Amino acid sequence: MNRLLTVSLYAMLFAAGPAPAEQHHEQGDQQGMTRQARQVAGDLIKKLGSALKQALSDSGPEGAISVCRDTAPELAVSLSRETGWKVSRVSLRPRNPLIGQPDAWEQKVLRNFDEAAAAARNTTQLEHTEIVPEPDATYFRYMKALPVKPLCLTCHGTERTIPDPVRARLQQEYPKDRATGYYAGQIRGAVTIKRRLEATN
Ligand code: HEC
Repeated sequence: MNRLLTVSLYAMLFAAGPAPAEQHHEQGDQQGMTRQARQVAGDLIKKLGSALKQALSDSGPEGAISVCRDTAPELAVSLSRETGWKVSRVSLRPRNPLIGQPDAWEQKVLRNFDEAAAAARNTTQLEHTEIVPEPDATYFRYMKALPVKPLCLTCHGTERTIPDPVRARLQQEYPKDRATGYYAGQIRGAVTIKRRLEATN
């Protein structure tokens, strides 16, 4: 091989410094997984946002309820299928108790998100990532906060912001609804992603 090429290849290979220690390797993995998870969560948020806006303008808030009811879980399921990870949405005050109920780890992260919002910290990029050992396996876990925007108040706000027909429809479809009474800037919930890494021996 041409010497110059060999030298530049070596330069490229070792530009990052000496061979990374195991710990560095794990940190690198976590960073890489965080980037991927952020992308998947962003994808879900973007698709949901545009489906919601479309439905609101096509069929009004009552019609848009079905976007949240059907499209949101469908999108999450198809992303789970594509990635092999568990992707869903959770909240400390879920509307749909069957899908939206957070586990203990998610509750802790959601409470931290609430504290950040209460302290008026910037919530637009609020996320949390952690390697979590569980009884059956070790998991990579990621959560991205979903701040309440003015658009959300039509279905998650107060009596003043939720139109009567929407409230009636919500009461009918979600008799256990806890997801009203929010103000813009609070945290409505989060996209949560769980990826199995390796079984615990
Ligand atoms: C047109 C009405 C409507 C609007 C607007 C709306 N939602 Fe929802 N939202 C719902 C419904 C209905 C559900 C229950 C979905 C289900 O059955 O899984 C829901 C569920 C959720 C959940 C899942 C957890 C839970 O409570 O069950 C999150 C998180 C959420 N909404 C966040 C938002 C955010 C953030 C916005 C604004 C960007 C928003 N929603 C706007 C109607 C709406």
